[in-house]
Amino acid sequence: MKKQILDLRITRAEEVGAQCVLLKAKPVEGRLPVCCPGQFAQLRVDAPDVFLRRPISIHDVEGDEISFLVQMVGEGTQWLGALQAGDTLNAVLPLGHGFTVQTGNEVALLVGGGVGVAPLLYLGKQLKANGIRPVYLLGARTKELLLRLDAFREVGEVFVTTEDGSMGEKGFVTQHSVLGCNENGEMETLPARVMVYTCGPKPMMNAVARLARERNLPCEVSLENRMACGVGACLCCVEETADGHNRCVCTEGPVFDASELKI
Ligand SMILES: Cc1cc2nc3c(=O)[nH]c(=O)nc-3n(C[C@H](O)[C@H](O)[C@H](O)COP(=O)(O)OP(=O)(O)OC[C@H]3O[C@@H](n4cnc5c(N)ncnc54)[C@H](O)[C@@H]3O)c2cc1C
Ligand code: FES
Repeated sequence: MKKQILDLRITRAEEVGAQCVLLKAKPVEGRLPVCCPGQFAQLRVDAPDVFLRRPISIHDVEGDEISFLVQMVGEGTQWLGALQAGDTLNAVLPLGHGFTVQTGNEVALLVGGGVGVAPLLYLGKQLKANGIRPVYLLGARTKELLLRLDAFREVGEVFVTTEDGSMGEKGFVTQHSVLGCNENGEMETLPARVMVYTCGPKPMMNAVARLARERNLPCEVSLENRMACGVGACLCCVEETADGHNRCVCTEGPVFDASELKI
């Protein structure tokens, strides 16, 4: 899939929860290139003190319209969060290696935390289009930090945890009862074979990957390492793998098979 540098026109900019915006955009000219779930875009920020593009996951694609879910944590994302309908946004996309969509299983478990839920909407839609039932397990510290639950509910079944118990089950995603097993170690709610996908804070992904390994389930994780160039030139995004090699997250990831990583 060839990456392109293209100007996008913002078609909609909407606040969605605390410090988070949903941006929808269409190419100013031509068509949107084919994008796969788990890939990302490098978005240009025209703020005075921000020199590097910011990596943001592809949240959704509908025809020629692409969506990004942006949490405002610093100057770059605040600039993105201030965009309005009609503004232009320059993007390099699609970048990186995304999720495996053909799983051979009937059900897929998509586990997201915080703004890490972003790539899981488009992934769920693609899984569903391939006849795989997406089940979401989404977690956040409080209910205010749970993002776009209605959009996820349109794609699949949604289970929720919050650390303060303000919505769904109290605790971490890995403690949710949907993952509960009977005395034979078989999951009671989900089939024995599910593909697990996860994106969110590193400790959460580590816990999800460990749980998947204990239960012998295939698992893919999407890393959000700090990036600069986003195209494999600066090596600032490398991740050390279980076999002691360094993998470039922006080109070989951001999605990896959990078994390859030090988890
Ligand atoms: C492949 C990939 C996909 C991403 N997808 C999304 C997305 O869909 N939505 C979204 O809101 N964010 C996403 N991020 C994170 C986003 O790129 C950063 O939050 C953003 O670059 C911060 O820029 P800033 O100028 O606003 O903040 P900065 O001023 O650069 O940093 C502000 C704070 O955020 C921290 N920070 C910056 N980058 C990261 C990072 N990658 N991981 C953890 N902490 C970071 C810094 O340490 C600092 O504390 C993604 C990152 C990667 C690598
Ligand atoms: S961000 Fe430059 S090599 Fe990955």
